[in-house]
Amino acid sequence: MSCNRAPETMENEMTEDKKPKKKPSAVSRAKKAAKEFAGDPDRAARKEALDRKYQDQPVMVGFHHVTKSYKLFKNDKQRFKAIFRKNVPYKQVNAINNMSFRVRKGESVALLGRNGAGKSTMLKMITEVAFPTKGEIEVNGRVSALLELTAGFDPEFTGLENIYFRGQLLGMKREEVDRILPNIIEFADIGDYMDQPVRTYSSGMKARLGFAINVNAEPEILIVDEALSVGDASFRKKCTAKVHELMDDQNITFLLVTHSTGVAADFCERGLVLKKGHAIYDAPIDDAVEFYEDMLQKEDEEKRKKKAQQKKEYSVLGGGKNAK
Ligand SMILES: Nc1ncnc2c1ncn2[C@@H]1O[C@H](COP(=O)(O)OP(=O)(O)O)[C@@H](O)[C@H]1O
Ligand SMILES: [Mg+2]
Repeated sequence: MSCNRAPETMENEMTEDKKPKKKPSAVSRAKKAAKEFAGDPDRAARKEALDRKYQDQPVMVGFHHVTKSYKLFKNDKQRFKAIFRKNVPYKQVNAINNMSFRVRKGESVALLGRNGAGKSTMLKMITEVAFPTKGEIEVNGRVSALLELTAGFDPEFTGLENIYFRGQLLGMKREEVDRILPNIIEFADIGDYMDQPVRTYSSGMKARLGFAINVNAEPEILIVDEALSVGDASFRKKCTAKVHELMDDQNITFLLVTHSTGVAADFCERGLVLKKGHAIYDAPIDDAVEFYEDMLQKEDEEKRKKKAQQKKEYSVLGGGKNAK
């Protein structure tokens, strides 16, 4: 399938000279700001040091010019029609746009971006829940992912049955699951509920079970989407300690999506800032967080200004209360 590169890509930046009137898109402005930010000599040195630290490690996850497009239909009826007919109109959105990105063994990377930036889509493609429209993704190692807390559980199976079920999904043999079962049970700490169907669990209990399975399944690549922010404080602390232990003792590769830049900085060495499916800035976590928070603040400021301007224009045009 051919892919439409969004109008924010490099080609457009290059043609901007010829069309000076066209305002650069939000993505090209963000890319430009990132370039300036990264140009600071101290920041450049920090980035180089981090790159050097992992340069001899094997690539665990690689994105090579990956684009993921979704077709948006007007309604479900149109979507259904499109299965049989070619000429049903649709709008195409690129959730991920020509992204290239590598994660090496032992790295811990936080994906930072607003809602809709493409974070979950990236993780879904690594776990093969979704597939790229264009480009290639390489994954070299056993992936254990906590995407959505309820995902991967059969509500009618008991907790124990679900452990075997999930283990199988993770590519483990029954004997392998038998071996790690005591650790999972101890970590989940849900008592007799282990023998009850998962549909009777609270969301906190599902989180406990999900996390217990994923962190004990001896992953080489651990992926967590927002899941660290659920559950009670003591369980969160336990999860935090376990993830740190896996990173320190087993040299796992870790990818994290979180809305909390504090959590990101606590877990990750590197941060990738995303905007509308584009990789904007890739840097050591403190620099990535600083850039990201700056970017959010500037965007909010711009939005406020735009709104105020619109309000002003509206009242000048006579659309306000006193309009005749
Ligand atoms: N199944 C889908 N169908 C259509 N659009 C989707 C689908 N999944 C994601 N998208 C769109 O892709 C973009 C990125 O979504 P997502 O990866 O979930 O962002 P994030 O996790 O950063 O909030 C959004 O614009 C979203 O609406
Ligand atoms: Mg998401």
